[in-house]
Amino acid sequence: MGRIKNPSKYLGNELEYLKKVLRAESWSATGGSWNQAFERKFAEKFKVRYAVAFNSGTSTLHAALEAVGVKPGDEVISPALTVIMDTTATIHANAIPVYADIDPHTFNIDPKDIERKVTKKTKAIIPVSLYGLPPDMNSIMVIAKKYNLMVIEDNAQCFLSKCKGKVSGTFGHMASYSFENTKHISCGEGGMVITNNKEYAQKVRKIGGHGFKNLTAQEGRIRLRQDVFQNPHYKRHDEIGWNYRLPEFNAAVALAQFERIEELVSLRMKSAKMFIDVMRECDYLIPQETPAGYTNSYYTLGVVYEGAERIGVSWEDFRKEYIKEGGDGIYGAWSVPYFEPVIAERKFVGRCPWVYKNVRYEKGLCPQAEKIQPKIMQFKTNYRDLKLARFKAEVLRKVIRSFKCSI
Ligand SMILES: Cc1ncc(COP(=O)(O)O)c(C=O)c1O
Repeated sequence: MGRIKNPSKYLGNELEYLKKVLRAESWSATGGSWNQAFERKFAEKFKVRYAVAFNSGTSTLHAALEAVGVKPGDEVISPALTVIMDTTATIHANAIPVYADIDPHTFNIDPKDIERKVTKKTKAIIPVSLYGLPPDMNSIMVIAKKYNLMVIEDNAQCFLSKCKGKVSGTFGHMASYSFENTKHISCGEGGMVITNNKEYAQKVRKIGGHGFKNLTAQEGRIRLRQDVFQNPHYKRHDEIGWNYRLPEFNAAVALAQFERIEELVSLRMKSAKMFIDVMRECDYLIPQETPAGYTNSYYTLGVVYEGAERIGVSWEDFRKEYIKEGGDGIYGAWSVPYFEPVIAERKFVGRCPWVYKNVRYEKGLCPQAEKIQPKIMQFKTNYRDLKLARFKAEVLRKVIRSFKCSI
């Protein structure tokens, strides 16, 4: 076996737990105990009644939308600055994505624009905690109550952040998490839904678990009574579901990672702070604003780059220089979802033509998101230790100073 590139990813109990899974009778959530253990820890940490493990932070969104009653033709409002998955999960539920614009300082969904976009067909809102910062959840919940809308918080990028003293993920009817490779905790691919509502928890588990009728809000195992389950007359399914279950190996790794969640979040927050301190040396790297009363768990450090206008250096050239000096790759923000070919070219219409035949998205729909997206730089925060983060932040300082001198 070659050298392990990033051993810091599994400094906890990951290997030990994996060995236990290998020796166990069942490697599936339908029979094993690792999913359950992980779900329990997760629910405890967020102080919610139910946590249901999934195989991604997209299957969570799809299942959650259906669990709260989103039906074909309903409208679901999500922000215009986010990954495509909030859109695709909506389309998986045969619902219509509606985009609300963002606040240019926090990059998060603007509650005022949510309210402007509400129609008689609106059924749900997916507020996204972009880059680790929760949106204005209090205002969003007021709007949801006023129009009787369901709220699914997309917290794929956000762990343990607070919004006015309350933990993000505990405002809405359900919240969704991702354990994809780059997230605060990871098992390669995985996800979790949390909720305090028993009915939604059971429904979401069934939708993610082939619609087995004996799945409960608390329990992912289905073969509890073998004499019944093995009987040829036994009827198993009372719900249309998918197989969105998390394998036991992933649950074990994710649990080991979750045991270190405070440390992993803190590492990203401290790394981000180092970069933000350095960015104060210039006026063209403007970090995502964290309003008073909020915390940001910094999945990544999002910054508006104004260097093209202010120092005459393009986005691409600044990135090149940073890498040349020893910095890491800087990601741009994903395209505004309705500019992605799959949406712009209406490739989704054939899935459900009677729902989508008149659905079109035009340029100018969400001007703030469209303006800011090409300027965003995402700086890495998932350093294995703060020494490395400090080194990279100093590289950035050098680059900023070099441009000051050369202008
Ligand atoms: C905000 C957001 N929502 C949803 C997802 C989808 O999660 P996953 O990749 O686990 O399907 C991601 C991550 O990729 C994300 O960043």
